[in-house]
Amino acid sequence: MAFDIEMIKNVYSKMAERVDKARKVVGKPLTLSEKILYAHLWDGNPEKAFVRGKDYVDFAPDRIACQDATAQMALLQFMQAGKAKVAVPTTVHCDHLIQAKQGAAPDLKRANETSNEVFDFLASVSNKYGIGFWKPGAGIIHQVVLENYAFPGGMMIGTDSHTVNAGGLGMVAIGVGGADAVDVMAGMPWELKFPKLIGVKLTGSLNGWTSAKDVILKVAGILTVKGGTGAIVEYFGPGAKNLSCTGKGTICNMGAEIGATTSTFGYDDSMERYLRATDRSDIADAANEIREYLTGDNEVYSNPESYFDQVIEIDLDTLRPHLNGPFTPDLATPVGELGKKAKENDWPIKVDWGLIGSCTNSSYEDLTRAASIAKQAVDKKIKSRADFGINPGSEQIRYTAERDGILKIFEDLDATIFTNACGPCIGQWDRSDLKGEEKNTIVHSFNRNFSKRADGNPNTHAFVGSPEMVAAIAISGRLDFDPMHDTLINEDGEEVKLDEPQGIELPPQGFEVEDAGYVEPLEDGSGVTVTVNPKSERLQLLTPFEPIGDEIKGAKLLIKAFGKCTTDHISMAGPWLRFRGHLDNISNNCLIGAVNAFGKKTNFVKNQLSGEYEGVPDTARAYKAAGVKSVVVGDHNYGEGSSREHAAMEPRHLGVAAVIVKSFARIHETNLKKQGLLGLTFVNENDYDLIQEDDTFNFLDLNEFAPDKPLTIELVHADGSKDEIKVNHTYNDAQIAWYKAGSALNLIAAENA
Ligand code: F3S
Repeated sequence: MAFDIEMIKNVYSKMAERVDKARKVVGKPLTLSEKILYAHLWDGNPEKAFVRGKDYVDFAPDRIACQDATAQMALLQFMQAGKAKVAVPTTVHCDHLIQAKQGAAPDLKRANETSNEVFDFLASVSNKYGIGFWKPGAGIIHQVVLENYAFPGGMMIGTDSHTVNAGGLGMVAIGVGGADAVDVMAGMPWELKFPKLIGVKLTGSLNGWTSAKDVILKVAGILTVKGGTGAIVEYFGPGAKNLSCTGKGTICNMGAEIGATTSTFGYDDSMERYLRATDRSDIADAANEIREYLTGDNEVYSNPESYFDQVIEIDLDTLRPHLNGPFTPDLATPVGELGKKAKENDWPIKVDWGLIGSCTNSSYEDLTRAASIAKQAVDKKIKSRADFGINPGSEQIRYTAERDGILKIFEDLDATIFTNACGPCIGQWDRSDLKGEEKNTIVHSFNRNFSKRADGNPNTHAFVGSPEMVAAIAISGRLDFDPMHDTLINEDGEEVKLDEPQGIELPPQGFEVEDAGYVEPLEDGSGVTVTVNPKSERLQLLTPFEPIGDEIKGAKLLIKAFGKCTTDHISMAGPWLRFRGHLDNISNNCLIGAVNAFGKKTNFVKNQLSGEYEGVPDTARAYKAAGVKSVVVGDHNYGEGSSREHAAMEPRHLGVAAVIVKSFARIHETNLKKQGLLGLTFVNENDYDLIQEDDTFNFLDLNEFAPDKPLTIELVHADGSKDEIKVNHTYNDAQIAWYKAGSALNLIAAENA
């Protein structure tokens, strides 16, 4: 199943030389983040110091991990690259498509019935192309990665924002869109803007009710949801060494909630213990040999202000437990102060559910700390006031926790043990206790608590805390309960107090599992046929896009987007996620969230062929059916938000030839290039105002498409008058070749033919 020790030894064999060279080039001691970045340059040779927050750099990640929702389109695209195998070790994890309702066994059975075509597809593609496949119920991607694949000093990318969890084992692990993952699977480099660096110095040690989760809840309160944008957060100091490896994972995991590129910790004894406990002593031995290269230089940590762009210090001795929320994970409130805040804001005090799990907090240690509170409730005859739901992080954790009697403790408290999967964390929760959209409060140990996230109800007030605090609050049934000071009345009418939680870092008898849920791919998968039912609603094999060519004449305006147009406006999430693997079906959400500059309505544009007003996808389909190309016009920062490749694939599929905007979010611009259409910016941004509702676009010099050379477009208005405008582009020679081939993947496939 497991990790490839030879690959890791190969990374380590080059690490010292590359880091030493990078230190010379940069001219000063290096942080851990810089060591990992410079050791993973695509060309392998650190020759220049990169400017943080500015230079775009090509990297060579060691691994890729994909979850079932995002893997569908990524693998459909990879199939077009004409490769026999993935170029980099890759795994697929089925964890997002399993709804929590009655409990693990019936829920898993139902998921296997409702999503079997998706699971079968992912399994067969994995088998064919040498991808490790983790079955539904095997666990949550980031716990499984931490247990099996993460290694100190490594670099990985994953098609999920919480890929960053692997920083707990000393990696630089970054969440990306499917298009980036496909590039790396196909053997291409991965581009990233060289990140800025935020240092967090931890002193002291956790005690009492305070846990690793409270470190990141506190950091989120300081930095807010945007404070980490474009930066790697590197934790160091004596306090860091006092945290368990999975606790470090929790902290790194929620780095996604402050917008950080990723977070990481230097290699230390806790990581060594975790590697040995998860049957990877050979990695620990190899890491020990280059220990000083797997952490920041001493000078950096003794004088951090000189090396990081920003430094924060947190004293774990005095850190208090927090609950963050509702509706945003950076609204940090120390436990004990919530009652007052809740009253002021009219948040419901009564707590209906306590949920423990998610990739953030579902380790063995997490379960034992929460169980130590649950056990007290049983022993002290306190009946839990709120319902309890538990999602173990992996089958290995679940099996071991069952063996060690930990799950039994929760069951004694009438908790429901859900599947080892994301469940309520991703809204896969069929909650039967509410009839409508009643106002209510839940507490959970997850990472995100945006409106509707867990149960689809905009009136559910969700608060994020550590598993043990979630347990205590759920038992009390009150948001204003402070277990450090308050007492509860038990079934005998006595006043009782909960003692501090006790956790077990790693199972004393070792981890154990019967069937971890892993399927090793065939050595030679060439004989495997991937079948997709042509009538499927959820999956559709892709056909290569035809090149648009150098003749764009008579193209019609599809929509002139007004104001903000994010990837969510271009390709909405929510119910549409169901169609992620079916390009034609999901294209019915194309740009339906964008505001049309003419009339200021969404999904209401003029079809120039019929003169009627219709939805954007219908209008685009009408143009496409008539053999007419179309053009999308947009404002500033068009395509900001996520790296979702659907936002570029859908317009391409519907016949859009060019997107012309005042400015692009860079990732979306690159995604448009990869899909073989034109992403252009007005030379004079006031030309946006020249675009009228009935405009036709003639590209005058596309046959001379070349780097750094603006293009000329003739606008023909309804009254026959014309304007000529110039548009810029950032295509280099390689990207122009993508355009000419119809897409980047078409070009790769042609090269492999
Ligand atoms: Fe799954 Fe929630 Fe993590 S959706 S991957 S458990 S953030």
